[in-house]
Amino acid sequence: MRIEVYFSPMQVPSSAVAGKVVAMIDVLRASSSIAAALANGARTVLPFDSAEEVITRAKAFDRKEIVLAGERRMLPIAGFDLGNSPLEFKPPVVEGRTVLLTTTNGTAAVTSVQGARDIFIASYVNFTAVMTVLRTAVHGGADVVLLCAGRERAFALEDAACAGRYVRHLSGGDSQFELNDAAQAAMLIEKRYGDRIDTVFTDAEHGRALREAGFTRDLEACARLDAYPVIPVYQERQITKIGPDRER
Ligand code: MLT
Repeated sequence: MRIEVYFSPMQVPSSAVAGKVVAMIDVLRASSSIAAALANGARTVLPFDSAEEVITRAKAFDRKEIVLAGERRMLPIAGFDLGNSPLEFKPPVVEGRTVLLTTTNGTAAVTSVQGARDIFIASYVNFTAVMTVLRTAVHGGADVVLLCAGRERAFALEDAACAGRYVRHLSGGDSQFELNDAAQAAMLIEKRYGDRIDTVFTDAEHGRALREAGFTRDLEACARLDAYPVIPVYQERQITKIGPDRER
């Protein structure tokens, strides 16, 4: 079995994910916000590459049924209901609604994956929940790809550290697993930080940028291990959670 990490969607040819189980990681903040939305009762999250696509798609819905959310340069998009802070996706706002979401890196990373067997959305806030499906996948003989959304399509320390945590827990140092170089590097990064996720964010460029922009509480929320214990799965252009209403 192979466990691979890609530090940016730019590095991933479609042959690299074909038939594999993919977990897309955008710790700051798209994956964490998607997990928060679904944990707090959103029916589904629809990811889009652009704000224009969100506005066009919104016309197909009754306005009361949807929430428009997203960011550009970390800030909420004018005219949208929410930005990209996990703390904004509260039950009274999202419960029973469809969230139309566009973010700079995360939503584009999800929609870029073609031909995978399954696509999950992973972060620290839903680490153990996503681990259960990845563990089942490797026990069934599947190869796993941890796809980091990165920042501006380049390496992001927080995504790499989170990917390393998944690799370490999945492989458990067992030599039956073949790791690509990026998976080995991600484990080294993870080893340096361990459970000090707040320190990962202090060191990471994106963490520092969010702090400077006034999003310190978001950093605290995104560092809360297993705070939103859901398994978001992307299928047929929508992200739903695996659970009682959608067993797999
Ligand atoms: C993204 O998808 O680029 C991020 O979630 C950016 C952000 O921090 O809002």
